[in-house]
Amino acid sequence: MPLVTTKKMFEGAYKGGYAIGAFNVNNMEIVQGITEACKEENSPVILQVSKGARAYANHTYLVKLVEAAVIECPDIPIALHLDHGPDFETCKSCIDGGFTSVMIDGSSKSFKDNIELTRKVVEYAHDHGVVVEGELGTLAGIEDEVVVEGAGSYTRPEEVEEFVTKTGVDSLAIAIGTSHGAYKFKPEQCTRNEKGILVPPALRFDILEEVSKRLPGFPIVLHGSSSVPQEYVAMVNEFGGKMPDAIGVPEEQLREAAKLSVCKINIDSDIRLAMTGTIRKFFVEHPDKFDPREYLKPARANIKEMVRHKLIDVLGCAGKANECR
Ligand code: G3H
Ligand code: 13P
Ligand code: ZN
Repeated sequence: MPLVTTKKMFEGAYKGGYAIGAFNVNNMEIVQGITEACKEENSPVILQVSKGARAYANHTYLVKLVEAAVIECPDIPIALHLDHGPDFETCKSCIDGGFTSVMIDGSSKSFKDNIELTRKVVEYAHDHGVVVEGELGTLAGIEDEVVVEGAGSYTRPEEVEEFVTKTGVDSLAIAIGTSHGAYKFKPEQCTRNEKGILVPPALRFDILEEVSKRLPGFPIVLHGSSSVPQEYVAMVNEFGGKMPDAIGVPEEQLREAAKLSVCKINIDSDIRLAMTGTIRKFFVEHPDKFDPREYLKPARANIKEMVRHKLIDVLGCAGKANECR
């Protein structure tokens, strides 16, 4: 099947109490690792591309890599999404250039300017059969090149109806305590469980519930949803890296969110960690090797297994391809 929009995916996800994984792609091995897992697990998937990814790999290369995945995985729905579109021009370029979904991230603007910009993108996108994700509230951490200091600001539920009605967006990213990158929480914000493992503060499910009440049936998106697996943090640190205190969102909380109105969960840092940890280990264990295929192969394999785990145990979208087309 050709590239699809996220419309049917979100309908299936909302009704079925699961979420679609939105994984950032930057090169061939990442595209392959993700889509091979989705193919084997019969799962719908969103492949997303940031402004930084387009600058790194080039728009055409990324679109062609995703088109190759569509050919290799003919039975699963795949959407190609612009992650954190910074302005109308970037969104237009992606809409004109083969994407089926775009995000316009006006979250750093005033409420009024965010509405105005988002509506402009929605008008153009819908005219071209493309769906749009908007954002209200800001996440702490790094939003592409925009560094948001401190805790960010939670989405204000009282704003969501007006935003969705006035813009016509198809989905809405909200801020409930997730953040971008591998350092989502400071150790002093966490408590220790009986096994001595650091447990971060809970996400603001109260805000999610209030938003859902105000927008019944409407798909919600969670950014910054990597769980930063400690096995990969340990691997990085054991093999020459330095990532002290890297902490992510507990997977059980993401599973809970997926059962509610959250239909799209963004995961990027976990893929980076799996790739980097694996390559670091390879280099230390095989100092004589220099063929990139030899270290990219296990990195791709570990991305695939991580994505498989997410599909089955976190997102709940394994086996749902048929419901989403
Ligand atoms: O939220 C941002 C994504 O993790 C993409 O990151 O801008 O480094 O490509 P990037
Ligand atoms: P992570 O950094 O938690 O993987 O978030 C990715 C993301 O939200 C991309 O938009
Ligand atoms: Zn994001």
